[in-house]
Amino acid sequence: QLRSFEAALPDVADEPGLYELQVRFLGKNGAVTKLRRLMGKVPPSERKELGKAFNRVKQAMETHLATRAGELAAAARERDLARRVDLTFIPDPPRPGTLHPITQTRRELERVFRRLGFDVADGPHVEAELYSFDKLNILPDHPARDMQDTFFIERPTHLDHADAPALVLRPHTSPVQARTMLQHGAPVRIVAPGTTFRRDDDATHSPMFHQIEGLYVDRNVTMADLKATLYAFVEAFFGRGLGVRFRPSYFPFVEPGAEFDMQCPFCFDGQLSHGCGLCKQSGWIELGGSGMVHPAVFEHCGIDSSVYTGWAFGFGIDRMAMLRHGIPHLRHNFEGDLRVLEQFTSP
Ligand code: PHE
Repeated sequence: QLRSFEAALPDVADEPGLYELQVRFLGKNGAVTKLRRLMGKVPPSERKELGKAFNRVKQAMETHLATRAGELAAAARERDLARRVDLTFIPDPPRPGTLHPITQTRRELERVFRRLGFDVADGPHVEAELYSFDKLNILPDHPARDMQDTFFIERPTHLDHADAPALVLRPHTSPVQARTMLQHGAPVRIVAPGTTFRRDDDATHSPMFHQIEGLYVDRNVTMADLKATLYAFVEAFFGRGLGVRFRPSYFPFVEPGAEFDMQCPFCFDGQLSHGCGLCKQSGWIELGGSGMVHPAVFEHCGIDSSVYTGWAFGFGIDRMAMLRHGIPHLRHNFEGDLRVLEQFTSP
């Protein structure tokens, strides 16, 4: 056994091989261990000699194993030291993240409106019904108050109803109008971009989306100022003088009220006369709502409507980002797919 063990030893190339050899001879069912079981069959007078011989073999094997283990470890260390390291190798730098296209668009909008003289205001996402509706002249029976449109927050049961303000996820950025007028009075000129929520979910509507609100209140402010501001905005944001038009419309917090459109940046000049999916060949793209601040809103917000007039607008940022960057589907805005996001390096 010792000889066949010694013969096998040089072929062992690594630690697992060594372990295998050890098990083969000295393990529970190893060849040497099995021999030991024969002891009982040997006459008692010879047992002592056999036992000694057995131990000698076993010890010899164990010594061999230890020596070989040392050799293997030394060889491994040698190999490790001899390994060449290319000190000039420059690994790929970690890739920094980029701002989401909607964040980029929001910041770009803020930049453009700041240049036009607007401050940037902000408001909470979980908003009181008071600011979302009441202060804005949205009466209790208005459809926006319907559970179909707005996410209502359950009132905490441990609070008396009188103490717990009724809360919603704001369905538009217009509550910032009320907050700003109540806090700062007039004159005021702000935009308020931010996240908004509605109970919509289809190919062109997400339950979470983004709007930017505009509010300008001062003496002698007119609808002409609104249109001029929208022209200036579109030109600054899209880099060319696209047309803007009003269509009469109704919102409880403005009078008169209008929706506004801009000329389609892709096909208004006939470059793409057929098949523009964005404006459905109409040449115009709907942006949002606007109008002159309703006197009732001024009254709710502590501003004297015999002195001041003002206008407000609100439009979606998500579609603005799509128009600006040619993003073909709303879902790309919200899926967080890196193949999409990687295409938007931060400016
Ligand atoms: N808040 C309105 C909406 O979400 C838009 C709007 C804002 C209309 C300001 C008029 C004035 O549809």
